[in-house]
Amino acid sequence: MSDFSLEALLDSRRGEDLDLWARTINPQFARVLRTIGFDRTWARAEGAYLYDTDGARYLDLLGGFGMYGVGRNNPRVRAALVEALELETPGMLAMGTTLLPGLLAEELIGLAGPRIERCLFTSSGTESVEAAIKLGRAATKRERVVSAAHGFHGLTLGSLSANGNDEFTARFQPLLPGFAQVPFGDLEALEAELRREDVALFLVEAVQGKGINLPPDGYLAGAQELCRRYGTLFCVDEVMTGFGRTGRMFAFQHWGLDPDLVTVAKTLSGGYVPVGALLMARSVHEAVFDSMSHAMSHGSTFAPNELAMAAGLATLHELREQRLVEESARLGERLLELTRPLVDEFDVVRDVRGLGLAWAIEFAEPKGGGRRTYRMIERAQRGLFAQLVVVPLFTKHRILTQVAGHDMAVIRILPPLVLTDADVEEFTDALRQTIRGAQGMPSLTKFALTAAGAAVSRR
Ligand SMILES: Cc1ncc(COP(=O)(O)O)c(C=O)c1O
Repeated sequence: MSDFSLEALLDSRRGEDLDLWARTINPQFARVLRTIGFDRTWARAEGAYLYDTDGARYLDLLGGFGMYGVGRNNPRVRAALVEALELETPGMLAMGTTLLPGLLAEELIGLAGPRIERCLFTSSGTESVEAAIKLGRAATKRERVVSAAHGFHGLTLGSLSANGNDEFTARFQPLLPGFAQVPFGDLEALEAELRREDVALFLVEAVQGKGINLPPDGYLAGAQELCRRYGTLFCVDEVMTGFGRTGRMFAFQHWGLDPDLVTVAKTLSGGYVPVGALLMARSVHEAVFDSMSHAMSHGSTFAPNELAMAAGLATLHELREQRLVEESARLGERLLELTRPLVDEFDVVRDVRGLGLAWAIEFAEPKGGGRRTYRMIERAQRGLFAQLVVVPLFTKHRILTQVAGHDMAVIRILPPLVLTDADVEEFTDALRQTIRGAQGMPSLTKFALTAAGAAVSRR
């Protein structure tokens, strides 16, 4: 028996988490966490809750940027992983096939609608998007890719080239050639691009993750129609929205869409193992994998990973058994019902929006009192008011949320779908109290000014 013990290792280094991270991984991230008071030491997690080393419970409304759909440390997904390890399945053959990937592919294809007939596994969301770009271009023999302003598709070079947010792209120019962005919701602008008949794919999130932006009525169906008319592949990025996040298995199902390409990741493996997939129409696959010599036109060493497949099958089972997609729809409705009144209650709340358990609140300069202070805070850094709500939600109410993006006065949540009604009520009460407190901004101005530059916003 090996004398290696994770437990002993963790015990011997307990409490070093943040310092070690700062020394070896990312000192700036550690600085941000310290500045905004998010520098807790975490002991364990379960469902929608995190526990720090003092035993305090935190309500996790971020769900690891939306990957803990079935809850943190889901016991049934864990059991499937343990079983896979104990079965000593053959794993990646390289030159051979095993059963688990085919079983998961079959399920995913069955869920994604009649047009989807093939599944290519990856190990992350951005890899799924890269595959869509690469295979989409090869299949259509076209070079250009169109995406939407404010879209987010990952941070590797191809996905980043489709990113519609300057703060992610500006410092990494030049990106790949042939990429263009059109305003989300603008069919005329999209048609102006597609009409050139050189666009391989239109890549779009059904609900934009950055600010939880919902598509205007008719937009996605119209975009799909334009894609068909001009020979462009319609690619819906479901990395964030897939597997129940918006109250449907896939967000595109709200609008009865029939995409050629669908990218997935995040929730698929219950948050345990990196996983992703590009689901595609047979015609796309066959145009690229068109001969034996092209049988390995795309792929990567780790995909499909055996444990990711086991976790994926167990996660889909869990979504069904616990009716989590339906729960997401129900709780999302409840959350909107409880939080929409905040728009009328507070001058500073401009909008509350969401679909299923993808939800956001947007702030704007109040028309009445508090205007000058709001301006001063937003002058220090745009979006800082939202941080003035996120911080006390965490430090005082022990609720983890996030500012939705740079330069945005928007808070978003992507909680595990295992949330309870009581969690939703706890959040709503805390949010109301915190906004009320943040409106008395002068007391917080000092914090705001020191925290300028530390507004954390990631995926
Ligand atoms: C819509 C969307 N696409 C792609 C990605 C990239 O996924 P990953 O972080 O797994 O690379 C994300 C990540 O947040 C996302 O929200």
